[in-house]
Amino acid sequence: MKHLLSMEDAKDHVDEILDLAGKFKKNEIPGEPLAKKTLAMVFQKASTRTRISFEVGMYQLGGNALYLSTDDLQIGRGEPIEDTAKVMSRYVDGIMIRAKEHQDVLKLSKYSDIPVINGLTNLEHPCQAFADLLTIYESKKSFDVTLSYVGDGNNVCNSLLFASAFVGMNMNVVCPPQYRPDAEIVKKALKYAENSGSKIKITDDLEEGIKGTDVIYTDVWVSMGDEGEASKRISDLKGYQVNKNILNLANEKAIVMHCLPAIRGQEITEEIINCDQSAIWDQAENRLHAQKAILYKLLGK
Ligand code: CP
Ligand code: NVA
Repeated sequence: MKHLLSMEDAKDHVDEILDLAGKFKKNEIPGEPLAKKTLAMVFQKASTRTRISFEVGMYQLGGNALYLSTDDLQIGRGEPIEDTAKVMSRYVDGIMIRAKEHQDVLKLSKYSDIPVINGLTNLEHPCQAFADLLTIYESKKSFDVTLSYVGDGNNVCNSLLFASAFVGMNMNVVCPPQYRPDAEIVKKALKYAENSGSKIKITDDLEEGIKGTDVIYTDVWVSMGDEGEASKRISDLKGYQVNKNILNLANEKAIVMHCLPAIRGQEITEEIINCDQSAIWDQAENRLHAQKAILYKLLGK
């Protein structure tokens, strides 16, 4: 695995990366495995967790991270991505990029001699999916569970479909028909699921998608880049809020997850974010441990 552009790139390395993440969390990997290495972090969109966990992760692994907003880079003035990739490859050891267009990340990787990590695009959020798998495994001690993703079938949902199909976890996507996840990714995930035994279902019926589930997952209804259609989205998705009624449909030991940031009163209620069944804060912490595992795997020797 040279890059992590899509969760699909990690299909043969999921167990290894999760194992590493667990070890980093328990401080079982000593020393500074990325000493003298530098990660360039390119941001075209806002970030709290991704930026901080990558920056802190690099520091804890003995390396260095550069925060580069595209407003400050020459990319913002029209320098081609190809040139940026070639130049960066001469200075740093890896590039993490959060981009508006997934195609731009693919292009960056094509011209880059060093590993490129997708830190979120309009299509996928693979680093989030690793933190999510770690959180689910810690809580449930197995992937023999069902995850119900409720709301907008967005980038986070797309990467979770691959993740579920790879580890053999069942996944229900519960959303209105026009908010389904990417059709190509669904098709691929169904194919991978045939091998792993995971069952993937897409439905607009809340009861059907949530009854007896083990993990309820949601994300914002208006992702970065979707602001122009905010009011339509909020109105279309309003029946899909994760609240007490939804939680009551699930298994009584179900956990609730959200990649954050959350909009209280839209996709989730305050009560649920901070209830006993919420795994949201552990999930946010796990971004750091997962990030270190991804960095170690791609930038280590
Ligand atoms: N979950 C996530 O990626 O958060 P940020 O947008 O704050 O990085
Ligand atoms: N789907 C959200 C995730 C933010 C971490 C977005 O793309 O804005």
